Amino acid sequence: MAEFTLPKNSKVIKGKTHNAKDSFENAKKFNIYRYDPEAGTNPQLDSYYVDRDSCGPMVLDALIKIKDELDSTLTFRRSCREGICGSCAMNIDGTNTLACTKAIDDVKGDVCIYPLPHMPVIKDLVPDLTRLYAQLKSVKPWLRTDSTPESNKERLQTPQQREKLDGYYECILCACCSTSCPSYWWNGDEYLGPAVLLQAYRWIADSRDEYTGERLDELEDSFKLYRCHTIMNCVKSCPKGLNPAKAISSIKMLLAER
Ligand code: SF4
Ligand code: SF4
Ligand code: FES
Repeated sequence: MAEFTLPKNSKVIKGKTHNAKDSFENAKKFNIYRYDPEAGTNPQLDSYYVDRDSCGPMVLDALIKIKDELDSTLTFRRSCREGICGSCAMNIDGTNTLACTKAIDDVKGDVCIYPLPHMPVIKDLVPDLTRLYAQLKSVKPWLRTDSTPESNKERLQTPQQREKLDGYYECILCACCSTSCPSYWWNGDEYLGPAVLLQAYRWIADSRDEYTGERLDELEDSFKLYRCHTIMNCVKSCPKGLNPAKAISSIKMLLAER
């Protein structure tokens, strides 16, 4: 009988506890995934007790406090601290979300933090998004036109045309949706995934764009688009409340109507 074993680096072992539980009166425990692919050792789960009385309310506040005060080697991405840049996306308490908008109080018990799932890890909580960015580039996420705008200044839209971009232009490309999508886990080398397909639709839906036909031609592919099986994990995990599955079905409808 065939035996399957997981790759060595998929086994997460128990790591260090960096300070004592009774270090603070109001302590919260954070269990954080630590991995350095260059070290040649297994990933481990390190624990840190954080003083809630001197920590901001969000998970990102705790991560910054841990890095400043307990362990400067902890590696994670962040920039805006207000849910706009998308760089602090990670898996917190079992859900992909943004560390800067996830309240510590929303997590009952210990706060368990892992990188976005099913992506190669550069270090600790930093996933390698190179493939996703290459896929984004492939859908040409910018306004493509051949004509000169009438006024020679700007391309106008009616309020109704502009409204068609609502629910799409707000995407911050955090990748929470794509990394929660089972189809993207298994076929991410060919399937574009919800984040990139939502971006693709954002430009298809833009009344100013003059390459709608070409954009649809490029997406009409059994792997790039049709690996979406409407499982809806993407919708549940989007921290901006967007609906990538709706964007995907809108692309499929436009293709069916041609
Ligand atoms: S659709 Fe939502 S989850 Fe997906 S990349 Fe955009 S903001 Fe992030
Ligand atoms: S609806 Fe489609 S894109 Fe969203 S999680 Fe499911 S398979 Fe992935
Ligand atoms: S730090 Fe920018 S979205 Fe969280």
